[in-house]
Amino acid sequence: MREAVAQALAQLGADWADVAAVASITLKSDEVGLLALCAAQGWAPQFYPPEQLAQVAVPNPSETVRRYTGTPSVSEAAALLAAGRPSELLALRLEKHRFKGADGRNATVSVAELPAQVPSPGAHFSAEDRLRLHAVLAARRDVRHFRPGSHIAPEVRARLLQALMLAPSVGLMQPWQFVRVTAPARREALAALVEAERQRTAEALGERAAEFLRLKVEGVRECAELWVAVLAPEDGTVFGRRTLPREMALCSVACAVQNLWLASRAENLGLGWVSMFEPTEVAALLRLAPGALPLGLLCIGPVDAFYDRPMLEQEQWRQRRPLHDFLIEDEPHECA
Ligand SMILES: Cc1cc2nc3c(=O)[nH]c(=O)nc-3n(C[C@H](O)[C@H](O)[C@H](O)COP(=O)(O)O)c2cc1C
Repeated sequence: MREAVAQALAQLGADWADVAAVASITLKSDEVGLLALCAAQGWAPQFYPPEQLAQVAVPNPSETVRRYTGTPSVSEAAALLAAGRPSELLALRLEKHRFKGADGRNATVSVAELPAQVPSPGAHFSAEDRLRLHAVLAARRDVRHFRPGSHIAPEVRARLLQALMLAPSVGLMQPWQFVRVTAPARREALAALVEAERQRTAEALGERAAEFLRLKVEGVRECAELWVAVLAPEDGTVFGRRTLPREMALCSVACAVQNLWLASRAENLGLGWVSMFEPTEVAALLRLAPGALPLGLLCIGPVDAFYDRPMLEQEQWRQRRPLHDFLIEDEPHECA
């Protein structure tokens, strides 16, 4: 049973912690394997009577299943009911994962997605919410190793775009543009620009050149999606940026990227910000409007594993500094 569920979750790129509810038919309420798995995971399974399951429209009803259980669907219908979406066929993320165990017994797993639960503005967050946010903050990494040949589902991409749109910006100017690079030849051309700059960076580093060249500093070719973060042409916004106009616009784009970085991590996707390129060359390649400035090639996609620590730290390039190095109270000289 455990293996059947593990395989179903793996197909979705989900993990055990993503499971919010588990359900089946009343006929299975004493199924030892199911109850043992639920007990081990701390899940409280729900069991629906066949009459209730039979009311749910499913993509794969079966006459055989109806004959044995009294409902044409158990797993698909139970998943939709448990997700609270019995009339939303599209909520099924995995229709039927059929599994035959070493003991010769069969199990079918279906997975339905919960409705998006975006807290309303002004919502009060719980201690658990805070812990989850901190878990995402701590687990976010700049990623250079991606799973080649992988993809991002359209609904996931939509949530990432939503995260971008929620970013703060000076005077609400929203000075960002994102170019989604889909043509393989263009991606390849961008990778070549990065490689040229990587070599120039090595030269500029002098005695650490060889050490630098051993580091992986980008995943432009392998990542599922490549988005170029662009500072949009100047729009004349004055509010909040009279004295530091360029800097405040740049900071605003960085805020949008950070939203995307965290939202990607919450989707269990890696994101790597690549800034090694000559901006005029990238702008020309992407035919950006005059005055637009590319700031980052954002490599996004599934990964096999996240680094435990910043990769540059793991590779002994540089170490993170302690908090007291950054926290200055009152006048800087008092900290010395
Ligand atoms: C503005 C910006 C540009 C970056 N450019 C690159 C880059 O070109 N190549 C690279 O390998 N990492 C790049 N990084 C990632 C940093 O190296 C990384 O954030 C830092 O080492 C800390 O690691 P962490 O993000 O995993 O915590 C960039 C990060 C930022 C914020």
